Amino acid sequence: MYASLKSIGSYAPSQILTNADLEKMVDTSDEWIEKRTGIKERRIAASDEATSDLGEKAARIAIERAGIEKEEIDLIICATLSPDHLCMPSTACVIAAKLEIHNVMAFDISAACSGFVYMLSLAKAFIESGAKKNILLIGAEKISSVIDYTDRGTCILFGDGAGAAIISATEDKNLAILDVHASSDGRYGDYLITPGCGSKFPCSQETLDNKLNYIKMRGNDVYKIAVKTLTNDVIDILEKNNLDASAIDHFIPHQANFRIIEAVRAKLDFPIEKTVLTVAKYGNTSAASIPMAINDAYEEGRIQKGDLMLLDTFGGGFTWASALVRFGGK
Ligand code: COA
Repeated sequence: MYASLKSIGSYAPSQILTNADLEKMVDTSDEWIEKRTGIKERRIAASDEATSDLGEKAARIAIERAGIEKEEIDLIICATLSPDHLCMPSTACVIAAKLEIHNVMAFDISAACSGFVYMLSLAKAFIESGAKKNILLIGAEKISSVIDYTDRGTCILFGDGAGAAIISATEDKNLAILDVHASSDGRYGDYLITPGCGSKFPCSQETLDNKLNYIKMRGNDVYKIAVKTLTNDVIDILEKNNLDASAIDHFIPHQANFRIIEAVRAKLDFPIEKTVLTVAKYGNTSAASIPMAINDAYEEGRIQKGDLMLLDTFGGGFTWASALVRFGGK
């Protein structure tokens, strides 16, 4: 049995936060943001929308496009750094309840922006071992809930959204997830971190006063390591699979910063037409970034059944991951 990405779906909240809006909030400019990041706008969830609400909407689309009954789903995994609840229940359980899928294995993973590709690795293993047949993966983020909108180093970069996919068992190798590489280096944990409100600095007035519940980032250091790691990771997965960059139909990188994507793309000689770019309109949506990008390309009619996608992502931890995935949907 092989694991196949059978469908994709996504949801972006309707409220748009533009660079012009941010100019009124922090000392920045539309010109600076666009030149340094390629981002023009990002979406922000409504105050009564939680991460699970975004994930549920994306999941419903993925389930419908997969042409399966929700009762056929035997595992739900959600990747998020902005869960509905800090400890429990997991956002996967909340989404399962909203979808009315009861009595199913469901759990969250924490791998920051690499979450979706990490989940592909898990889904591949569950399906190839014969343990599961139809797995719902959701990358969902209400990152605006952990962003300090007075910190110009982070608030310009991130946005809210969700993407989902159904991974199903197939006997057809031409529709399979070929390979997934996932790795980490915890020595860089402090470079991209939400320091407070976990067990190390439990939530208190002091933690909140010091804004330790928000994302802190050493942006320029993250940038340099991201470019190097993403490039090496792509070279590695292509070499291990005896593939040349020309074999790739769609290069779908994590949408953190256009300059990071461009550096990796140019180094590997992927044509721009084969590169999927959504960073201008959504910013960095962390675990939702890759499935939202796949969905955009799918809805534009760019992705066809059997096409080979190369996914590449990097995030807090540090974590990183790449995957070679044939599109198994209609
Ligand atoms: N508006 C205007 N100026 C800003 C600014 C903003 N929003 N943020 C920083 N600056 C200033 C800095 O203060 C600095 O000024 P100085 O030269 O007077 O000291 C200058 O711009 C350059 O700062 P630097 O941090 O070196 O910029 P950069 O080119 O590295 O761009 C990021 C900053 C955050 C856009 C970039 O580092 C980045 O994208 N990092 C990776 C982020 C990422 O991918 N994170 C998630 C990983 S999943």
